[in-house]
Amino acid sequence: MCLRSPENPAEWAAYYFCRWCWLRAPWGLRPGSERDPADASALHLALFSAQESLPKIAAVGCVVLANDLETAARLRFVATDPSLRSLGYGRRLMTGLEELVTKSSRTRIILHAREEAVPFYLKLGYRVEHPLPPAVANIPHFLMEKAL
Ligand SMILES: CC(C)(COP(=O)(O)OP(=O)(O)OC[C@H]1O[C@@H](n2cnc3c(N)ncnc32)[C@H](O)[C@@H]1OP(=O)(O)O)[C@@H](O)C(=O)NCCC(=O)NCCS
Repeated sequence: MCLRSPENPAEWAAYYFCRWCWLRAPWGLRPGSERDPADASALHLALFSAQESLPKIAAVGCVVLANDLETAARLRFVATDPSLRSLGYGRRLMTGLEELVTKSSRTRIILHAREEAVPFYLKLGYRVEHPLPPAVANIPHFLMEKAL
């Protein structure tokens, strides 16, 4: 497994396809709904597998360092392949994303966690700040934060 940014058009297409398959399609959302204007300046990571027997990408996620976030970085579109969950790939992805934030001047991380993902982020040291209005597909979300 290799954690890095997609590097060519085929890898970028695969990266966004994973986002759509794992975070949008199960709720009937159309292709394209996995894209966001902040993607252009975000830092992206994918966990690539070289093993033929495994999916090409095991996990995806990105870091947004928008100016209006001030001292914070925001993690977005974090997900692992449904056939590879509970194997540590989500934790590995998050370690890589947090390393990218550490290299920036930001001192805390925020994210909008789906209700079902809250226990995962709690395990990684994030705390729940407050509930958010339901966003994608009406799924309850919570603002979570971790100081670096
Ligand atoms: C949330 C998600 C990224 C976790 O990925 P994963 O690869 O299964 O996570 P890991 O195997 O690395 O788990 C890391 C730790 O969190 C725990 N964990 C993961 N999901 C959990 C859950 N739903 N409930 C409780 N604990 C959980 C694991 O047991 C593990 O603990 P351990 O290290 O003590 O064994 C994955 O389930 C996912 O993609 N979910 C759907 C998309 C989603 O909700 N993304 C978040 C958007 S905000």
